[in-house]
Amino acid sequence: METCLSRTGGSNEPSVFMDSEWKEFNFNVFHVWFMPVSFSSPGKIILFGEHAVVFGEAAIAAAINLRTRAVVSEYRENRFNGFPLRKDMRAYPYHSFSLTGATGKSASVESSIPPGGGMGSSAALSTSLVAALNNDGNEAKTASIAFNVELGAQGRASPLDTSTSAHGYGVFISSSRVSSEIWSISSGTVTWHIGHVDVGRMTVVAGYTGSGAATGHMVDKVRRLWEKYPTARDAVSEIGSISQDAMKALRGGDMVALGRLMDRNQRLLSVLGVSTKELDQLIDAVRPFSYGAKLTGAGGGGCIIALTDRPEKAGEAIAARGGIPIICRTGEEGLRREGHEG
Ligand code: MEV
Repeated sequence: METCLSRTGGSNEPSVFMDSEWKEFNFNVFHVWFMPVSFSSPGKIILFGEHAVVFGEAAIAAAINLRTRAVVSEYRENRFNGFPLRKDMRAYPYHSFSLTGATGKSASVESSIPPGGGMGSSAALSTSLVAALNNDGNEAKTASIAFNVELGAQGRASPLDTSTSAHGYGVFISSSRVSSEIWSISSGTVTWHIGHVDVGRMTVVAGYTGSGAATGHMVDKVRRLWEKYPTARDAVSEIGSISQDAMKALRGGDMVALGRLMDRNQRLLSVLGVSTKELDQLIDAVRPFSYGAKLTGAGGGGCIIALTDRPEKAGEAIAARGGIPIICRTGEEGLRREGHEG
């Protein structure tokens, strides 16, 4: 039998809550004030244009089906993954708390994205954490704050990774105007225009070397080469035109052309000193089974990606060379509010 409870406050209505109403009322109050807030966002692969994008050149990235999820609840002090937040802990959580002005929040994060692998682990962390700390799933606002988190943590960055994690699907970025613009973000003298790209559901095989390098360090390395050597400056602008050509190949669904452009992009990344022996070996291993292959992300370790319609074969070749194959799907949605379980 359902019990009745007194309702405070006068009314001509029958002054009772049914038991079920009372539970719903309590749930709503609890939900608004105490329930954890949770957002998830995806990792990414950079199909074309990493490093060059920092200088304002064009680049293309796609969200993948590996995600990071941040859960935030009220607490008496700021905490991250069970520890009081301190300035000397991982820079990305610290800057996320600081740039959102969060106080009295406990955040925890879980992720299926390999850390330091060039697959957007830090961007997905910053994006999901910023949204959860703000309790706000606005993609443009979150992308902008999360970009500043990366800038604070790395010293130098482009908004490519965080915009891809926030928007999902595919992203084309350039310092010139882009079609289907979703937002623009400025830092220093550069304004990046970010547009939606329909990359569809592609299968891309990643090969993880098992080790990574700090993005900030790799970005600095390229900057020093760029300042010193005209060949490095030429490589940066050629990567930008490869990304422009790749947009045409993507629109036409021309996998052969995309693969060739990936191979050219990889040669230029080698000129910029961000490929390694391990990455080159994995690229050689997948070549017989791929349209094209290149490193993805900052390089210096991390992952390669291969565009292939024989993912199992490419994966086996990666494993045979000591890499860890990860078969990824593109077409993943971006920032997403998650329900709370338990
Ligand atoms: C890192 O995933 C991509 C870089 O271009 C840096 C950046 O864009 O912030 C190397």
